[in-house]
Amino acid sequence: MSQNHKGDGDNVAGNKKEIHHHYPESYQKPIDLDSPKIQVSKLPHTNSQLFGREDELALLDKAWDANQTNTLSLIAFGGTGKTALMQTWLTNLGDDNYRGANAVYTWSFYSQGSAEDKQASADEFFDAALKWFGYDGEIIKSPHDKGLKLAELINQQRTLILDGMEPLQYPQSGVMDGALRDQGLKTLCLQLAANNNGLILISSRQSVIELDGMHQPKVIPHELAHYRSKPASPYSELIIS
Ligand SMILES: Nc1ncnc2c1ncn2[C@@H]1O[C@H](COP(=O)(O)OP(=O)(O)OP(=O)(O)O)[C@@H](O)[C@H]1O
Ligand SMILES: [Mg+2]
Repeated sequence: MSQNHKGDGDNVAGNKKEIHHHYPESYQKPIDLDSPKIQVSKLPHTNSQLFGREDELALLDKAWDANQTNTLSLIAFGGTGKTALMQTWLTNLGDDNYRGANAVYTWSFYSQGSAEDKQASADEFFDAALKWFGYDGEIIKSPHDKGLKLAELINQQRTLILDGMEPLQYPQSGVMDGALRDQGLKTLCLQLAANNNGLILISSRQSVIELDGMHQPKVIPHELAHYRSKPASPYSELIIS
């Protein structure tokens, strides 16, 4: 706790006192002139402390640190904890000054809803992301060219986190077999999967089939199992299985 109290600087008996704040060491935030540019506010809020995801956190750390992975997708049903995992990893990365990333950008498509009849579009994302990553040229009309340009801008030790991508995918059971609906997003994902000095992290309720068949560890599709809400005990195995 600070040793100062409100009122320390009051004029006591006519003598002006200088205010000195004596914060403990841990309160002194170092000024870091090399701080990366970040936008980490778009992930939906997840309220609980992450439980039992040590292996996945290690997988994400490795994907970033080893610099061999271009794209990692977390695939699981709704409520499994994809966003919570990404949020915690991002917070950990932030505690570490983003470990060499020079920019970190988050986006969530989740709020657009995943109903089939809803016309999900990636336009808003492209407009915002292109601007944020520094594009100030003419408006790019072709979705394919938007994808190319954004991929080019991100491919520089940058992290892009796309949450809840399923509204932009056709249902896997349908004729379009789970393909991405948006050409720009498809281009972005394919370009960055092929070549990326940063990392693109995706969460979706269904696998990104465009990335299927690409080689690991360049592209890692990770199916997330349900987390266990209670510490494992000899009996929990029996109850769960
Ligand atoms: N490992 C975990 N430990 C503690 N709480 C968790 C964990 N995983 C998820 N939760 C909690 O469960 C809830 C649902 O998780 P989350 O929103 O991350 O799921 P999701 O897979 O992203 O679902 P959706 O597909 O609907 O976006 C959240 O409140 C989250 O905080
Ligand atoms: Mg989510």
